[in-house]
Amino acid sequence: MKPEEEHQELKQVKSRSRVRDHGEVFTAEREVKAMCDLVKDETERIDSLFLEPACGDGNFLAEIFTRKLVSVTRFYRRRQFDWEVKSLVAIGSLYGVDILGDNVEACRERLFGIWDAEYRRLFKSKCAECVSLSARFILGRNIVRGNALSMKLVDDAAQDTDSPIVFSQWSLLAGGVKMRREDFEFASLLAAAEQDSEIVPDAVPGSECLLQESGRFLGSKLYPSRRIFDE
Ligand SMILES: C[S@@+](CC[C@H](N)C(=O)[O-])C[C@H]1O[C@@H](n2cnc3c(N)ncnc32)[C@H](O)[C@@H]1O
Repeated sequence: MKPEEEHQELKQVKSRSRVRDHGEVFTAEREVKAMCDLVKDETERIDSLFLEPACGDGNFLAEIFTRKLVSVTRFYRRRQFDWEVKSLVAIGSLYGVDILGDNVEACRERLFGIWDAEYRRLFKSKCAECVSLSARFILGRNIVRGNALSMKLVDDAAQDTDSPIVFSQWSLLAGGVKMRREDFEFASLLAAAEQDSEIVPDAVPGSECLLQESGRFLGSKLYPSRRIFDE
């Protein structure tokens, strides 16, 4: 059974206390697909940006990522380096926040599993460990444990800390050999987006607006694209 098929076996509700405390009711696959179809072209575009602000274990992100990977494979299946770089771009285009640590971990693992299964299917023994580590590194930064309402990171008890949620924007440079990471505070990105009334409605369920607004810029780093985990 594929990882995604296995996941569909899970229930929409894990426990009553989680529903009561955190409103945790997962969206069924049929609704996820129907909603993604509303922005079908964007879900199939490799670098379109999506943010799921209460991502759970990533029902929407997994569907979008699966569609993006179909596009990556369609164009780059015969060129391993290009497939690797473009698939990292696709991973870097997805953002999630959840207040529960196990959901964040599950979401990262799920997205990684989708990527890893396709990478191994295509390139088998030629798969490179450094690319897997890069994929994990991006997921570790893009899928965040935090409170999407206060826009703060949370502690193990799901209480707000003083640290803001920070998102990294990833962009390819120099023919795919290097990637730039630029960090922005979530609160500043949202405030910048809300100032532009034409942009805000497009932000749900996902769009490019949030991370293309100026926001509060925190810093920039360059990485070799196949070793970006190596800070
Ligand atoms: C209704 S579930 C939706 C999960 C997923 N988006 C889906 O459609 O299957 C709501 C999720 O939001 C998370 N959550 C609740 N309050 C939150 C908050 N203030 N910030 C971030 N996540 C929150 C819960 O842990 C839960 O995973």
